[in-house]
Amino acid sequence: MHSRANLPPGPFAFPILGNLISMPTKEKARQFRDMTSSKNYGEITYFHGLGQSILIINSLRAMSEFFVRRSDLSGGRPTLTMCGELVGYDKAIVLKQPGKEFREMRKELSYAIGKGSASKRDRLLRREDLGTYLQNIAKMPNLLWEHSRCVINTYSLAIAYGYRPAKYNDEFITKAERALSEFVDLIQPGSWIVDLFPFLKHVVLRIPFSRYPREIAKYQESQKALSITPWRMVKTQLSEGTAPESVCLSLMQKFPERVLTAEGESSLSWIVGNIYAGGSDTVRGSLSSGSIKVSIMINRPYQRYAEIDEFTNRMGRCPNTNEKDQFPYLSAMISELYRWAIVAPMGIPHMLVEDMVYNGYIIPKNTTLLVNAWSISQDPSIYPDPTTFHPERFVDKAQLELDPREFAFGGGRRICPGINLADTMLFFTLSMVLAVYNISPLPKSKSPPLWAFTDKFSRHPLPFPCKITLRSAKCQEWIDGALAE
Ligand code: HEM
Repeated sequence: MHSRANLPPGPFAFPILGNLISMPTKEKARQFRDMTSSKNYGEITYFHGLGQSILIINSLRAMSEFFVRRSDLSGGRPTLTMCGELVGYDKAIVLKQPGKEFREMRKELSYAIGKGSASKRDRLLRREDLGTYLQNIAKMPNLLWEHSRCVINTYSLAIAYGYRPAKYNDEFITKAERALSEFVDLIQPGSWIVDLFPFLKHVVLRIPFSRYPREIAKYQESQKALSITPWRMVKTQLSEGTAPESVCLSLMQKFPERVLTAEGESSLSWIVGNIYAGGSDTVRGSLSSGSIKVSIMINRPYQRYAEIDEFTNRMGRCPNTNEKDQFPYLSAMISELYRWAIVAPMGIPHMLVEDMVYNGYIIPKNTTLLVNAWSISQDPSIYPDPTTFHPERFVDKAQLELDPREFAFGGGRRICPGINLADTMLFFTLSMVLAVYNISPLPKSKSPPLWAFTDKFSRHPLPFPCKITLRSAKCQEWIDGALAE
């Protein structure tokens, strides 16, 4: 037991319940930040009660200390009895506890989708899918969010399984999306009594009319749509000699002996499952912001188009994924997008595997660590004028500001393994969106403000009606060319 005096500051605590009831339930990132500054809690705020302890990390300095310098202590994930053990998501990388299997899964995933295998991976991003996206935004601009969902799902499934959905309401995608949204509900703190009191799992499964067995069966069914079901589809294709190139196929060929055991298959199928599960919702959020809002917001349209026009005039085509270095302004836009339109404002919780001392405070083992990445993104001492979308922050090498990839993708041993893939998908798509379309707000539209976002675990822009016009007749040829590839 730790004496209260050694624990970090936090709101007033009642006996037993502690101060958990003071935790905000809406606009969490903003409220945690405001709570910290108004009460002078400093860089960390501590909540506890009912046997749980949660530390909110509000500054970059504290995040580096916990996640980078002491990544040996902070790399655990909270144990979620319902979501992990009972439904089976504990086999996915994102909930796996540190250890040999976790390290191997991360290594294989990085090997499959990281920078080192970019040329092989990027071959799976087809321009035809991008052409369909562009054509659809022109036809139905008010459904931009639907189109962005579809194109990112298509990229992710193509890379993972070589699968290309034929329609928006493809069954495969519908099931995977349901699973992802259920996953987000399942990990909400306090939703399941067994997460607070794990010993109750034996009770809730046995009591008559308990909702648990039914709910668990339903969630397990969905969980399989993200892992073993698509894996089996590729396995059948492999035996028939029809499997297209994909990460799944490469893994089956690399580890033929593991495909023979249920345990081996479960672990390999979750390496691939993480590409869709980790990448689809997050990249879609950035793309939706990037495609429309950001293009409108850049108040110097000349800059938005200068480098892209220079390239297309010189080459007579749109850029390829390996030509990103020739686009410093667009690359800066993507960085600013990660900051300004931060997708995971409170990151994904880590868990301390041992007690840790920080600034004289003792943070107990098993404390859940939440980084307020949004608050870092809005810190004026790091980003002057933080509410303004301003890609120039990352262009001018003389006064370059902190790369948002340092906090928007988590950190330490759990840092997002999909950063390079996210960069590539966004560059691939936005370079062509900007090359072919002019995008402007609808005059007098009663649209929500540009900075309006959903208030969920992952933060997406609210739909924003706009006008989209082709920049020239040549641009239509590029779209047609992409569709024909
Ligand atoms: C804009 C795009 C993306 C954002 C903002 C994002 C953000 C994040 C964040 C904040 C975390 C938590 C890291 C931590 O716990 O410290 C994470 C983890 C993860 N991300 Fe991403 N991500 C993105 C794209 C992707 C993509 C394309 C993939 C595809 C492979 C991916 C796969 C994962 C996985 C597997 C984890 C769990 C890592 C672990 O627990 O060890 N993400 N991501």
